[in-house]
Parts: sequence; structure tokens; C-alpha cells
Amino acid sequence: MITNSAEETMLIAEKLAKGLKPGDIIALSGDMGSGKTTFTKGIGKGLGVKDSKRINSPTFVLIKEYSGKIPLYHLDLYRLDTLKEIENLAVEEYIYGTGVTVIEWAEKIKCLLPEKRILVKFKVKGGTKREVVIEDFRD
Ligand SMILES: Nc1ncnc2c1ncn2[C@@H]1O[C@H](COP(=O)(O)OP(=O)(O)O)[C@@H](O)[C@H]1O
Ligand SMILES: [Mg+2]
Repeated sequence: MITNSAEETMLIAEKLAKGLKPGDIIALSGDMGSGKTTFTKGIGKGLGVKDSKRINSPTFVLIKEYSGKIPLYHLDLYRLDTLKEIENLAVEEYIYGTGVTVIEWAEKIKCLLPEKRILVKFKVKGGTKREVVIEDFRD
């Protein structure tokens, strides 16, 4: 689908979040500035994270945890260069935890992710237009 503003992208995410359960994984991919973090904010809002507006891409940490009706684990792998680094992060603890896990730049750890995930791909279509494609591979 096409979204025309950051607000619209957040609404799409918020709607998706309503159907999420603990253990769900949302793998985000797309260029810098395409809307991954914006989408994550919308997920946080939908999960009942207080102050979901403060969800951002962490500069120094790769993982941030937010409490909500369901906890949100937000991973941003932008700075990740090798799979070895991710192994050191023990990502599995998050992925198989009791919260919803949202991963930016998820394509970097494709081989570590379970197949039962939700894929969301972002493309900048110029100005504030973004194409968002959601594929749900859960049961
Ligand atoms: N339709 C849109 N969807 C999402 N973000 C948008 C849209 N239009 C403009 N923007 C802006 O683009 C930027 C997207 O940044 P961000 O969500 O941090 O992207 P990423 O995490 O993919 O690098 C934000 O400044 C946001 O306000
Ligand atoms: Mg980001």
C-alpha cells in the first residue's frame, strides 16, 4: 500500500499492532529514511507503550525494551557489520521472549530469524510518499 505521511504510516502500524501476540517478530527492511522507525513508533502506540513518541533509533545500543500491554523489543541493526556481532547480542533471548520484537535492517540477520514472522518492506516514492508492503508469515 501507499502512505502519504508519517502519521499515516504510524496508523498502519498501530492497526497491525492490534493483532500482535507475545513472541511475534516484525522484520523491517528498506532504505534509511524510508519509515522503519516511524512504523515502530506506531507499533509501540498500538501495544500501549507510554510515550511511544520517544521511540527512536538508538545510537549506541542496538536493542531497546519498552513496557506496554505487551512489551516491545526494538532492535536496530544498522550498525551491525557481522553476524558474529549479533551472536554476541544474544538476539535469540529477545526473539523468543515474551514480547513483540521489531527489527530494523532485519535482512542483516535473515538466516537467524524464524520463518513465522511478519515482513514489512519500505520504499521511498518521493516526497512523503512511501510504499509499505506487509507480508504475514505467521500461522
Ligand atoms: N509516508 C511516510 N511514512 C513514514 N515516514 C515519513 C513519511 N513521509 C515522511 N516521512 C518522514 O521520513 C522520515 C522517516 O524516518 P525514519 O522513520 O527514521 O526512517 P528509517 O527508520 O527507515 O531510517 C521521518 O522524518 C518521517 O517524518
Ligand atoms: Mg530507523
